[in-house]
Amino acid sequence: MKILVVGSGGREHAIVHALARSPQRPELLCAPGNPGIRQLARSVADSQDVDVIVAAAKAESVDLVVVGPEAPLVAGLVDALAAEGIAAFGPSAAAARLEGSKTYAKEIMLAAGVPTAGHAVVTTVADGLAAVTTYPTVIKFDGLAAGKGVVIATTEDEARAALVDMLETRVFGDGEVFVEDFLDGEEVSLLALCDGERALALAPARDFKRALDGDEGPNTGGMGAFSPVPGVDPATLTDLSAVVHQPIVDELARRGTPFHGVLYAGLMLTSQGPRVLEYNTRFGDPETQVVLPRLTSDLVDLMERASRAGGLEGATLDVDPRPAVTVVLASAGYPASASKGDVITGVETADEPTDTIVFQAGTAGGEHPGAPLVTAGGRVLAVTALGDTLAAAREAAYAGADAIAFDGRQLRGDIAAAASHQAG
Ligand code: AMP
Ligand code: GLY
Repeated sequence: MKILVVGSGGREHAIVHALARSPQRPELLCAPGNPGIRQLARSVADSQDVDVIVAAAKAESVDLVVVGPEAPLVAGLVDALAAEGIAAFGPSAAAARLEGSKTYAKEIMLAAGVPTAGHAVVTTVADGLAAVTTYPTVIKFDGLAAGKGVVIATTEDEARAALVDMLETRVFGDGEVFVEDFLDGEEVSLLALCDGERALALAPARDFKRALDGDEGPNTGGMGAFSPVPGVDPATLTDLSAVVHQPIVDELARRGTPFHGVLYAGLMLTSQGPRVLEYNTRFGDPETQVVLPRLTSDLVDLMERASRAGGLEGATLDVDPRPAVTVVLASAGYPASASKGDVITGVETADEPTDTIVFQAGTAGGEHPGAPLVTAGGRVLAVTALGDTLAAAREAAYAGADAIAFDGRQLRGDIAAAASHQAG
């Protein structure tokens, strides 16, 4: 079995690491990968462009292409591979619109009967303010907004400012604007493997999107995560998946755009029940760095089956009961910028304990002693540890993080802290 993994982040390192554990001993390729990934997989391309990946997959006669990031999915990589008869784990461009367009996601949720926040599409500031029933309220821009497209406004002045930015100044360019009900509760990321017909839920996770402790500071890609989430036991997980995953898979199949790959539901658990905030059509980063180390089933088999219509029939997932925590180490300036070329030490030491894994993301170099491992992006590393309790996993993840040094290293100190107290 020859598998090509597309992407170069911590998420893709976690995918490659899980595939490498398969009893099938697959031959692993990457495009482009990073220094950590390249210890487990041979790099066959230095870009993620559709044409480059298709050519590499053909030249290498790969059996399966696994697509990590969103951009190549939206660009139609899976469709282009299908046209060449190459199997892929990931949705078609049509199915990936669920992540690319908030308007489309709302339309599908409504058609599928999935609970979500009430919303109104607005075209003027006056209409926007009239659509607000209570504060806080949420103003959302449907389009690329560098993580600034969601504004939680606590006063009418804040709502007006956001509406003026999005509808009059057009700071993010063209795109629809919603006023959405504010949902109060705990967030959970629920990922499911899908084969076009059914959804198989992976372990629940929670990520930490803000840069600073106590959920302060700007939004980031995610500064840490843990799994499982207190309150989402296996029975609850099955119930939630039946409400947030299966109806979407059914609706997309009905529309002739069956969903294959990972369907990621970002949920708010409110006092009125679960509500979907958003869908992503790929693995989460850094959720994957806690979800996949806990998966003891053969990921090669599961991904191959998910790439085929109905292939997951009868499949079940085995999960290590031990919790996992991941702590992201970011470079100076993140998330506004990223510092490149800072020398990283201590990765081997941190990686030493059996139940600790250092996943690489924004790294470069390290091929030989003369070329030290250096920072090459915003999120540099994610240190994951499993433990008998969430508190033990958290302690081990921070011990690993503490062993690693580089100039300007930033991390949050409170990943999984509240939940470890809760879980005891
Ligand atoms: P999104 O870009 O839709 O993922 O939103 C980013 C973050 O904003 C989410 O992870 C939530 O923390 C928050 N958020 C989005 N929509 C709502 C909502 N309707 N109510 C409360 N918080 C929200
Ligand atoms: N951690 C959030 C995401 O992957 O979108």
